[in-house]
This record gives sequence, C-alpha cells and structure tokens, in this order.
Amino acid sequence: MQNAIKPDLIQLTKTGGVAIITVNNPPVNAMSPGVPEGIDRALDHIASDDDVRAVVVIGAGRTFVAGADIREFGKMSANKSLRDTDTPDLITRLLLKIEDSEKPVVMAIHGAAFGAGLEIAMAGGYRVGLRSAQVGQPEVKLGLIPGAAGTQRLPRLAGIAKALEMCVYGNPVSATDALNVGIIDRILDGTTQAELLAGAVAFARSMAGKPAPKTRERQDRLGDASANASLFAAAREGAAKKLRGQSAPLAAIAAVEASTQMSFTDGCAFERKLFLECLLSDQSKALIHVFFSEREAAKIPDVPKETPLLPVQTAAVVGAGTMGGAIAMTLANAGVPVLLKDTDQAALDRGLATIRLNYANSVRSGRFTPEAVEQRLALIQPTLTYDSFADADLVIEAVFEGMALKKEVFQQLDAVCKPGAILASNTSTLNIDEIASAVTRPEAVIGLHFFTPANVTKLLEVVRGKASSREVIATSMQLARKLGKVGVLVGNCVGFVGNRMFLQYCQQAEFLVEDGATVEAVDRALTEYGMSIGPLATMDMSGLDVGWRIRREHAKVPGMRQIVAEDRLCEMGRFGRKTGAGWYIYDEQKRPMPDPQIAALIRQWAAEAGIAQRTIDLREIVERCVYAYVNEGARILEEGFALRVSDIDTIFVNGYGFPAWRGGPMWYADTVGLKQVYERICEFQRTDGDIWRPAPLLKQLAEQGKKFYSADESTS
Ligand code: NAI
Repeated sequence: MQNAIKPDLIQLTKTGGVAIITVNNPPVNAMSPGVPEGIDRALDHIASDDDVRAVVVIGAGRTFVAGADIREFGKMSANKSLRDTDTPDLITRLLLKIEDSEKPVVMAIHGAAFGAGLEIAMAGGYRVGLRSAQVGQPEVKLGLIPGAAGTQRLPRLAGIAKALEMCVYGNPVSATDALNVGIIDRILDGTTQAELLAGAVAFARSMAGKPAPKTRERQDRLGDASANASLFAAAREGAAKKLRGQSAPLAAIAAVEASTQMSFTDGCAFERKLFLECLLSDQSKALIHVFFSEREAAKIPDVPKETPLLPVQTAAVVGAGTMGGAIAMTLANAGVPVLLKDTDQAALDRGLATIRLNYANSVRSGRFTPEAVEQRLALIQPTLTYDSFADADLVIEAVFEGMALKKEVFQQLDAVCKPGAILASNTSTLNIDEIASAVTRPEAVIGLHFFTPANVTKLLEVVRGKASSREVIATSMQLARKLGKVGVLVGNCVGFVGNRMFLQYCQQAEFLVEDGATVEAVDRALTEYGMSIGPLATMDMSGLDVGWRIRREHAKVPGMRQIVAEDRLCEMGRFGRKTGAGWYIYDEQKRPMPDPQIAALIRQWAAEAGIAQRTIDLREIVERCVYAYVNEGARILEEGFALRVSDIDTIFVNGYGFPAWRGGPMWYADTVGLKQVYERICEFQRTDGDIWRPAPLLKQLAEQGKKFYSADESTS
C-alpha cells in the first residue's frame, strides 16, 4: 500500500530571510503521497531556523498544486483505516500546521490551484497570484466534495454564495474574480513563475514579523442565518434542476452549511464524514472511471506515441450546412485558418449567416468577446471553388449524405489537394472504405464524425478505414485534443459506434409508446435516469423523416419487429420540431408540448398492427432503452469496432448526454450485474423476438459471472 516516495518532491531554499518551499511533482504538482510529508518536514526546518522570517510556497514548472492525485482516491476507498472520521487526516493536520506557523506563509499561485491545491493555499496567511492563475474546488466533477477543509475555509474567505457556487458546480474561477471575492489578496505583475516568485518573496518580506491572519478564525464572511437560509435553499433548488440525481453537490451544500452552524473543528469532521461517503459511492467511482477512460481513449495499440504527426496549420471544409459551418467554427476557435466551400452563393451566405448568429449568441452569453469573434471570423474564408485547396493540410467533407456525391467530392479533392493532406469525411452512416476507393491515396482518408452542435459537443469519433495510415490516425487524435474534443477511435461499421447503439435505444423508445407507454412517460423515465434529454424529444429535434427515408429504402428484415408509429407520423407530415409537430407539438418558440391527440393516434395504429397495449412502468422503460445500448455495445466490442469497453462509455458520456455519474452504459451494466441484464434481455426476447437476441459476449460474461470491465482488463 505504501507508495515509494520520491525524495525530491519538495525543495526548500532560502533568500534573504524568506524560505521558499517549492512543490516539484510534475506534470501538475498533484498532492501525491510524499508531497504533504515533504512540506511538513520543510516547515519543521523553517520553524527551527532563526534566519527565516517568512515563507513562500510555490509550484515548480507551469502550475501551483493543481489538485489531488486522482489515482489515490481509488486506493483510499479500498483502505478501511482511512474511513475513520474522528481523526483528521494527514493533509488536514498539515494545513493546521501551516495556518499556525509563527512565520507568515505566502501562497504564490500560477497555473491552477484546484482541489487540494486551493485547500492548501487557503491555509496560508496570504495568497498572491499571477493574473492568468485560476482557483477552484472541482471535486464535485468526480462525485466528491473537498476533503481537507475546503468547504470550511472557502466560505470564510469568499462568503457563502461564492463558496456554494464553487463547491456545487466545480467550475474554475479566474484570479481577478478570486481577488474580488477575497480568495486571493493580491495579483502580482508578470506572467512567469520566476516573476511570481520574485513578487511573492518581496510580499512575504513585507509581512515578516507581523501576525498573519488565520482563515479558520475568520467569521466576517459567514453571513447571518436568514440571508444564508435563502442561499442554501436556492443552491439546493439549482442542484436539483441542473445536477439532477447527483449526490455530491448536495453533500457539498450540506458541508458549506455546516461552516455556518458548527465550529471549524466540528465542520471539518462533518465534511470528512461526507467526503468519505462520497468517496465510497457508486457515483464517484463512475465519474473517476469516466475521467480515466477519456485519457485511455487516446492510446491506440498499433499507433504508438512516437508516430510522426502531420502538420495541421490550415484546413478546408466542404459544405457550409449545419455541420460544415459548425466544424469551420471549431477549427477557427482553435486558431486554424479554414476555407469554407459550398456550391452556390446562396448556400454559402446561409452558412455564414448561421456562423455569425452562433458567434453573436456566444458574445451575448459572455463566452467570447466581440474582438475574439472578429479574430475567429477572419480565419473563416468562404469560397465557391477548390482553387486554394492545394494549401490545406486537412480537408473535412460535410456535404449531403449520399455515397455518389461523397465520391465525386473526394475525386475532386484527390485532384487538387497536396500530397500528405488529410482527407476526412464527416459522414454519419456511409462506409469510409468505399469513400476512400474514390481516391488514389486511400491512406489519407479517415472519418472525422462530429456531433451536432459540432462547435459545442465534445465527442469526435475518429473512424478508421482499412487503409487509413498511422500518421493520419495519430494526427486526427491529436487534432481532437487541439479542438478541445475527446477523440475516440472507432471501426468502420454502419453507424460507427455511437449511432449504431443509439439506433437501438431510440427504437426501444418507439416500441415502448406502441406498447402503451405515453410519449412523456418514456422521456421522463430516461431524464429521471439522468439522460440530458429524452429519446423522443431528441428524435423530434433531429427530424423523424431521416429514419423514415432510410427505412423506405431498405427491405424489412423478416421476423424482426418493425417500427409503426413513427412511419405514420411521417406520413402525416409530422417530422418533428422543424414541421411544428412530431412526437410532441411545438409552440412559436419551438418549445415541445405534449400533444393531447397523440396517445389516441398511437393506440389506433398499435391496434391496426396487432400490438396489444398494456401499462408499462418507468423501470421497464429504463431497462429496455438502456439494455438495448448494452446489448449492441457488447456486440460492437466482440466484433472489434471499439478498441476497449471504456471507449464505448466515453462516446456516450461525451456525445449522447448519458449521465457521467452512471459511468456510461457498459459501466452501468456492470454495476447492475451482467447476469441480471442478460436475464432481462432474454425475457424481452421472449416477448419481442429477435431484436433482443442477446450478444454472445454478454451471454458468455453473464454465465461466467464476469463484468465487461474485468473481461476487458484481462484481455488488454
Ligand atoms: P446540410 O444539408 O445542412 O449541409 C450540406 C451542405 O453541403 C449544403 O450547404 C450543401 O449546399 C452543401 N453541398 C452539397 N454538395 C456540395 C458540394 N459538392 N460542394 C460543396 N458543398 C456542397 O447537411 P448536414 O446536416 O450539415 O450534414 C452534412 C454531413 O454531416 C452529412 O454527411 C451528414 O450525415 C453528416 N452529419 C450530420 C449530422 C447532423 O446532425 N446534421 C451529425 C453528424 C454528421
């Protein structure tokens, strides 16, 4: 259990009466084992060194302590002795020692002081920082709350409202904001760590010999009971709405509330009790799994880290529609100049108008300044020809979804693009290999499947064709990072990974209404489960006609249950939001409202199709929709279209609004137990036929009492 502690994690130096404790634990100076012990030892030296009159704590490299060592959380939850809530833990004790130091301690912040980093900073007598620094308590994003008195010291510095906002939502706060609310005392001039150090040492010297304030003794920001009551009520209401189903935000509120009702010592014990409850919760385990899965997705066994990367200095997008326009914005947002081509001026103008509107909304919401938008717009160059395409390092095709058209575009790209350029398609359903067959350099072709709205949604499926070169794959995965996306490499099957599974999920939602559940009940069951939006509302948004057209082109598979109600809706011209009606009806502002007639219509269509309607409870709705994901996911995994099970979960959390705190569909199935999932799927098969044929991998794991994750680990 005991980690080997690196001896050089903490350095202690002295300059003119000021001791400097430097945390040197690259890359982010995490509070790993050895760091608190090292600081503790340094403080002992300082206490006994009469030359030292003040102390500076600073991070080496690019940041202050950016947080806890997340791998340690897993070890902690397995270590029973750490569940003892009566004795303060090592870090809490260290923070008290810092706060009680007779020599003033100045915390010098650059980069990030997040989580344990902010907690240690708040124990110092003073905090100074660079203007570019950020502070935050992001523990909630891992299903946790601060565990080293963060919920007790932060309200004492920043006040209740700010402490609640930071601990409940976990978002970073800029140095300027931190200064305004009282978390830091001064912003120092300069931009580098060396400049910060020089300023912090001078500041520390000016404070030498004066008693430093102790954060834990402060009461002035803790407010009064009546004002606080409304803040806590509002925080609980906000969390119930925006973070539905999650327990850590509520624990964070309770812990901050304790700071106003208990002594500091009792508040810390209460925080620790809640922290440990969160640490042992399924939600935290799921969120930590999601965190590591996203990083794991970047690793591709046959594309090693050393694979040479192709330059991506300039790009071009073909098609200025919904996707093309948003992809051009995404590139411009990352500073990449981009040509945006369409076939006629009207389409191009429409595309540019949408881009301008989107950017105007970003200015209104405060996401971008007007200057930042101007810079980005200047990077997008509209065109009607392929004339300048020879300069592009990367081309992303986003024209209408049709194989003949895509091949024609790729032939043109083949003729004009320079050797080494990446030729990518944003197709959501078409075969990448067939598209690649249109060019003389299939190794340059890859799928870059963005999700709408492409400038916002974090997922990027990178679809590997059979000829895609390693350099093209490696560069595409790196591009995802550069664009602020989570790239996941998937194989070339119909719908790739995400849409292939999503189709099964949506289909169950439709069957459920045909079987007797109401439209609202289906969506409510799944949003209560934690999905960001219900499946029927999602289908209305993307347009019911898309699936209808595809179904009309393909022969029905004999013996498989067919969709009825959605086809009837389309025959009535109800394509969803765009036509004002689909599963829901829409008001002038395009807001969905239940349609009082829909239940009767569906009842009639079900009777015509010979479907006996019955009462369906919310549990069955969730089981059918989520297990449809799981069954198809298992099939994808054994067919090798996903590299690892965690990639599937990463796709659903980042691209399909699956609740991260449930870990993704495959992780969730493991928590339910594969035997139970499998048996339920077998029951569904008995009533609904082969659409529910269990995936062989699921059957095998269930029979062996295994999990997706243990199976995946043993084979990787
Ligand atoms: P869209 O209909 O909004 O835009 C297509 C654009 O391509 C139009 O502006 C059209 O004028 C232009 N175009 C057609 N032929 C062209 C050519 N030869 N040269 C240049 N421009 C041409 O379509 P949307 O929704 O943007 O879809 C584009 C692609 O992205 C399709 O392959 C689609 O399957 C895929 N996709 C769509 C998603 C969505 O939610 N809409 C999500 C992910 C992928």
